Amino acid sequence: RLLGTVGAAGAAGLVVGGAGGALAVSGGEQAAPTALTTIGSTEVPFRPERAKHQAGITTPLQANGHLVAFDLVPGADRKAAAALLRRWSRTAEELMAGRAPDADTGVALDAGPSSLTVTFGLGHSFFDRTGLQKRRPVQLDPLPDFSADALDPKRSNGDLWIQIGADDALVAFHALRALQKDAAGSARLRWQMNGFNRTPGATAHPMTSRNLMGQIDGTNNPKPSDEDFDERIFVGRDADQEWMRGGSYAVVRRIRMLLDDWEKRSRGEQERVIGRRKDNGAPLTGGSETTPMRLDQNGADGLPVIPANAHARVAAPESNQGAAMLRRPFSFHDGYRDDGAPDAGLLFVCWQADPLRAFTQVQRKLDRGDALSPFLRHEASGLYAVPPAAAPGDYVGRPLLE
Ligand code: HEM
Repeated sequence: RLLGTVGAAGAAGLVVGGAGGALAVSGGEQAAPTALTTIGSTEVPFRPERAKHQAGITTPLQANGHLVAFDLVPGADRKAAAALLRRWSRTAEELMAGRAPDADTGVALDAGPSSLTVTFGLGHSFFDRTGLQKRRPVQLDPLPDFSADALDPKRSNGDLWIQIGADDALVAFHALRALQKDAAGSARLRWQMNGFNRTPGATAHPMTSRNLMGQIDGTNNPKPSDEDFDERIFVGRDADQEWMRGGSYAVVRRIRMLLDDWEKRSRGEQERVIGRRKDNGAPLTGGSETTPMRLDQNGADGLPVIPANAHARVAAPESNQGAAMLRRPFSFHDGYRDDGAPDAGLLFVCWQADPLRAFTQVQRKLDRGDALSPFLRHEASGLYAVPPAAAPGDYVGRPLLE
């Protein structure tokens, strides 16, 4: 007997939502159809109506994420890559609308789309593999080596990159498997990283998320309402590589946190490392989370209240010729290392129109030794060109690959 109905978002299969047990009827009584919770039924369009960029960039952070890179298999050429992106785009569109693909595993059968986003990117090596070197944007030039890097090449770079985010862990896993199956014969998984953020609804009202150091993280991100937001984050209309106009560049870094060292520091020390309070994220110069930092304010001791090497000061646009990026990370926890320390930290993902004038500019500064660096290890790195969203009937990257 049917216990529920298909939800507003068109989820495939039964919808078993609502307050726990609400549908457990007895005595042959018919249960009233229950809609999915707003978390389950929230759908992010694969083809945004007005915005030109793919979903998963300005979409609010989801609770679960998978970052995956693929390499084309030997012999897979431009045509094979085009066919793969066509398959992937179709699958992403179906899944983001809450529909199951053919020969589905059933893993997400009872759930709605849960804000699923699937975002596709192309790495530097993709253009060599497909003979498209001439159309490779200079923005994909490899990132410079930073002095504190301890990068694992096996978990870095890759021909193709996918970011998956969803507010349900099964929905996210389901998407990952479906996309991996689509790749069979054309591309092999190179690396995969799994991350998480706070679950929507865990706080009494929407708040900026916290990272595993306990800090409110994301406060001073550029906002879509800022006048120069599009210019900073998305590739402009006059870009040399026409196929990237409206797209963005993603920098991905696996940054392990030395939590044993960090947690030994007093709250006061931790706050001076960032330049913001831990409880409410306000700058040490006062106010609330959204109050601007007063970088020129000195304390009674004559020293700046926000220390000269505080992370937020060193990373701020004011210290970097205006450089800004949209940080949209996931936390990760991959168990414990041989030395007993947690293998945990931040899957740092940031978005910008030009990495050289955003991530690279800021990371060069931080690498000279901001107060946070001693507690971090950069262990993997990737840089990807993320083309604009596909037009109706189209697939991501067609203007490059056709
Ligand atoms: C700000 C943490 C890595 C760039 C902040 C803030 C925190 C934070 C707590 C203050 C709140 C906010 O505005 O979001 C971390 C942690 C990192 C990390 C835990 C590593 C695990 C990086 C990296 C970059 C970066 C690698 C770029 C290269 C920024 C920028 C700001 C910022 C641009 C805003 C500064 C401002 O305008 O006030 N970070 N961060 N962060 N961080 Fe990081």
